[in-house]
Amino acid sequence: MSDHLLEFRNVSKVFRRAGSSMLHTKTVRAVDRVSFAIPERPEIVALVGESGSGKTTISRMVLGLETETSGEILYKGRRVSDWLKKDRLSYRNEVQMIFQDPYGTYNPFYRVDRVLSTAARKFRGAKSTKAIRELIDESLEAVGLRPRELLGRYPHQLSGGERQRFMLARIYMIRPNLIVADEPVSMLDASLRAMFLNHLKNFKEADMSCLYVTHDLNIAYFIADRIIILSSGNIVERGDTETVVQDPLHPYTRELINSIPTPDPSERWKERLDANKISRHQLREAEAVRGCIYSDRCAQAMRRCAEETPALVEPRNRNGEAREVACFLYHEESLSEALC
Ligand SMILES: Nc1ncnc2c1ncn2[C@@H]1O[C@H](COP(=O)(O)OP(=O)(O)OP(=O)(O)O)[C@@H](O)[C@H]1O
Ligand SMILES: [Mg+2]
Repeated sequence: MSDHLLEFRNVSKVFRRAGSSMLHTKTVRAVDRVSFAIPERPEIVALVGESGSGKTTISRMVLGLETETSGEILYKGRRVSDWLKKDRLSYRNEVQMIFQDPYGTYNPFYRVDRVLSTAARKFRGAKSTKAIRELIDESLEAVGLRPRELLGRYPHQLSGGERQRFMLARIYMIRPNLIVADEPVSMLDASLRAMFLNHLKNFKEADMSCLYVTHDLNIAYFIADRIIILSSGNIVERGDTETVVQDPLHPYTRELINSIPTPDPSERWKERLDANKISRHQLREAEAVRGCIYSDRCAQAMRRCAEETPALVEPRNRNGEAREVACFLYHEESLSEALC
């Protein structure tokens, strides 16, 4: 039995896009040899990166909505493709997705009561009307919704914020082991956002882990135990949230943290980063890029950065830190070159 709930082992995803003619199929390496794990104990891991860095592709692969081009994705030590072939239903129950806007996921003719009572019967084995009603009340109250106000309504009769919390209530009822949340609060205003995130954070107490996907480092800082920084499909740094955010090591992570507009935390990085900086990774095609994906934007780039890809290592002189960084500045053997 694996110690990990979810594990990515050297996973890549290459998309093919039709070009102007059949001979010109373009390929995009959306995810490039990514490895990470979420442990069995409940934990929130944030996957953070700019637009196009591969976050949604990773979430979709966890759910089996995309297939990896190479590498392995394991859930409880077993390949996700195998789960989906042999135990599709269990996998679908154990791993749940939270969407940006759940509106499209509900049948508009079913009242919220029906959605929740179906979940109570199917996932929690409730049989009597009383047991079902107790579970519904408990789930709605867990996300700050009042059963008396909500029950009897249709999804379109809920506000955006209520709908998002209603979706959380359904997840609370189902009790999956893993929640994959892809930018779930980007359509909510600041106060609803904070409320939603607080509830999701509390789900850890009910043994639910979460892979939380966002471009917003403020949100990641608020919600996650650990952070993985993704750039152009590559992990450039990862570790305990506090360590990475308070003392970022990778020049790319530093750029992201410096780009957070302090007066208005809801503003997005992608609007702040200099759109004119076209870098090698944005021009990247199917071949894995040689060298660090950040080297042509990096003020500290050394000769080898354009030629070799740095592996994720524990940075030297920082023993005991729960963190890894993919940058030659922190590789032992680069010390002499850096000093030249
Ligand atoms: N189905 C697809 N076909 C072709 N290319 C795709 C497909 N899905 C994603 N891509 C490409 O893969 C790369 C990663 O996309 P992805 O949606 O994973 O990024 P993201 O980090 O979620 O971005 P955002 O923050 O904008 O949601 C992008 O270059 C994107 O254009
Ligand atoms: Mg996305």
